[in-house]
Amino acid sequence: MTKQPTLTTPRLILRPFTLADAPSVQRLAGEWAIADTTANIPHPYEDGVAEAWIRSHVEQFEHRTGVIFAITLKDTDELVGAISLFSLRAASNRAEMGYWIGVPFWNKGYCSEAAKALIRYGFDELGLNRVFAEHMARNPASGRVMEKAGMTYEGTLRQHVKKWDRYEDLKVYGILRSESD
Ligand SMILES: CC(C)(COP(=O)(O)OP(=O)(O)OC[C@H]1O[C@@H](n2cnc3c(N)ncnc32)[C@H](O)[C@@H]1OP(=O)(O)O)[C@@H](O)C(=O)NCCC(=O)NCCS
Repeated sequence: MTKQPTLTTPRLILRPFTLADAPSVQRLAGEWAIADTTANIPHPYEDGVAEAWIRSHVEQFEHRTGVIFAITLKDTDELVGAISLFSLRAASNRAEMGYWIGVPFWNKGYCSEAAKALIRYGFDELGLNRVFAEHMARNPASGRVMEKAGMTYEGTLRQHVKKWDRYEDLKVYGILRSESD
């Protein structure tokens, strides 16, 4: 069984999470702004949630159902966020990408840089044919990340999810292996 690798970009190291990251995850993912535009991040972010989430990663990788990376700064080792490929479907070589970046690190290009590396890894190492991602229409920064990662807008799923008791439109982006460099 191969181990989850570490990916390197000009400014970032994408590596597996360890339990030592749990306090930083709780602090960063615990901000309301992160829960507000993601599907499954709880708010408030209770003690123990980060540890349970991190413990689930090895099994997902071993079963090839998902792979989750800690996004860290090359210069300082600081954790800035998380990025993942999930709902991997071996039958169709397809996965969905998801991510969050801690608020103090927004708008520095980190998520776009990580997304490019993750998509490359998905095509080259996981044998994927398609990576897609969805964002709430009211979260255009995420759509911009998808565009900068080379993905194409494919359409809008109207009122596809319910968040804080409101139905939200989801915009879908995708990239095929044949479209990647
Ligand atoms: C979405 C998110 C991951 C972006 O991370 P990031 O590291 O700041 O992203 P980047 O810096 O790589 O790119 C952000 C882009 O969005 C743009 N942007 C930021 N706010 C924007 C807004 N309100 N409207 C339009 N574009 C916006 C930035 O200018 C930048 O584009 P540019 O480089 O062309 O100027 C981050 O804001 C986040 O974690 N949000 C909360 C969780 C979340 O929404 N996750 C995604 C769920 S689909």
